[in-house]
Amino acid sequence: MPSICDRNITKEVITQLEHAPQPPKSQLLEVRFGAVKDLHGEPSGIFKEPHDEAIYVGLTGLAGDEHVYAPHGGVERAVMQYDADHYADWRCESSPFPDLFQLGDFGENLVATGMTEANVCVGDLYRVGKEVVLQVSEPRDPCYKLNKRFQWPRALKRITRTGRVGWLMRVLQTGYIRKGDEMVLLERPHPQWSLLNVKRVVQGKSVPLELVQELMELDVLTETVRGYAAKRMLTATKRYRLVSAENVTSRVKHLTFELDEHNLVIHKPTFPAYSFAKIDFGPDFSISRSYSIVSGDMNRFTLGVALDDNTRGGSSYIHSKLALGDEIRMTPGSDPAGIEAEEKCTPDAIDNRIIIIGGIGVTAFLPSIDLCEAQNLPYEVHYAVRSPEDAAFVDRIPSSRLKLYAKTQQKRLDVQELIPPPSESDGRFTTRIFTCGPNRLMDTVREHAARLGYPPHLLHFESFEGAGKAAKDSKPFNVTVHDEEAGRSVQLRVEADKTLLRTLRDAGFDMTYLCERGGCGACKVAVAKGEVCHNGMGLLEKERGDYMLSCVDRAVTDIEILYD
Ligand code: FES
Repeated sequence: MPSICDRNITKEVITQLEHAPQPPKSQLLEVRFGAVKDLHGEPSGIFKEPHDEAIYVGLTGLAGDEHVYAPHGGVERAVMQYDADHYADWRCESSPFPDLFQLGDFGENLVATGMTEANVCVGDLYRVGKEVVLQVSEPRDPCYKLNKRFQWPRALKRITRTGRVGWLMRVLQTGYIRKGDEMVLLERPHPQWSLLNVKRVVQGKSVPLELVQELMELDVLTETVRGYAAKRMLTATKRYRLVSAENVTSRVKHLTFELDEHNLVIHKPTFPAYSFAKIDFGPDFSISRSYSIVSGDMNRFTLGVALDDNTRGGSSYIHSKLALGDEIRMTPGSDPAGIEAEEKCTPDAIDNRIIIIGGIGVTAFLPSIDLCEAQNLPYEVHYAVRSPEDAAFVDRIPSSRLKLYAKTQQKRLDVQELIPPPSESDGRFTTRIFTCGPNRLMDTVREHAARLGYPPHLLHFESFEGAGKAAKDSKPFNVTVHDEEAGRSVQLRVEADKTLLRTLRDAGFDMTYLCERGGCGACKVAVAKGEVCHNGMGLLEKERGDYMLSCVDRAVTDIEILYD
């Protein structure tokens, strides 16, 4: 009986993998190939016709089969197969055009029954007919064109979540195949690695990293899937131990952590630009805080943590209780909007970078300062502190670039003097302004830059105050949450002292988030109706009209959002 598949790989918590059952002996219901055609205004190789005659299968696929993009075919992806029984299931879903799901519509070359992503493994060898031998190379990586193909905006999402993606194969033995040929399993070197398990390990919500490592080391895997596994390894939460802690000022500790999972191999462990570390520590890892990376890579990294007068317990725990040898968990985060803005700031567009820092805000920009030095980019650092002794990490900033403003020496950082107006000759802005410090300093920079008319991509703010808390003077608002997958809507009230993110989590929504300061974009939700005031920097330019950051943005009317 066909049914709606309620599997959602992206929400799965995986602890171990079962071996896949063997597929039954299967017969080819159809053999298909075709030329590139128009798919609603785009060329696509998805249209394939069934053929009854014997078809030659060469190393790069069926004779006469075409692809638009080279990576969609070639030796590693010569032949595609899809389970015929999936189609009845698709027709039971909520697609507006269920009749578009007919045999061959996923663009497969081979149509057979009984073989699915759950009982076919990467590395499996199948004899097809008398001559051809195929080796399963990867689960298909579905793309947005499937939304067009099935005229259903949720198609790609549903295909990804259910894992009903189909698979690709190499041709180890060329020859002829035809409709009615048998497909027989010859060898199964990796019974644990069903195509479904590969997808679950790459996309699941949580997975033991030993499994990711094992997947990366599979010799039969394509480089594409190996790359996904490597990315998973990079971005996953990992265990570290504190190996050194020193006071760099009376209020700032410099902490070094080393990876405690020695069996893991992290390829390219460098933190990307604008990275931060979300660390979980304390009893049962119940305290979570995000800090900028001071130096190092994912094998060994350092943080600078200031003792916060308004602490919620995080910095005081680190200063007074976190001991050498203690375990923490670290999840790396990044700032895609910061990277997007940086890409626009080419050397011919920007002739200076002004870095304005208050207190421990210095840690936010140490990697950027290193980068400016390495690339010989012009920059200047203006650093406000209570006294010269409070200035942390000044040894990381060349003295020729640094201007220190110590309150005890009556030196005052004047934002209005620092931020240059646009060029008198052509009205262009050619300075990029970076700011990290207390909210008062950030607000002053924000207001002055706005008065001068600075474009947003030239302003970069890093906030370290009030993570997870609603800003002072926030107003309450009502939100209707449409849960598309569950087919329900829920009405919630976001109180003045609470963020939308915390409200959603308290109501049982499984939210993704990291920094809780509006910097990383991880907590974004789509806004279907209503007006929003954006307080964070974590949305890409193209996202600003359609999304809000649930950790910092506020609604100014009743709103409707999509939980997906
Ligand atoms: S969690 Fe990072 S922007 Fe909201």
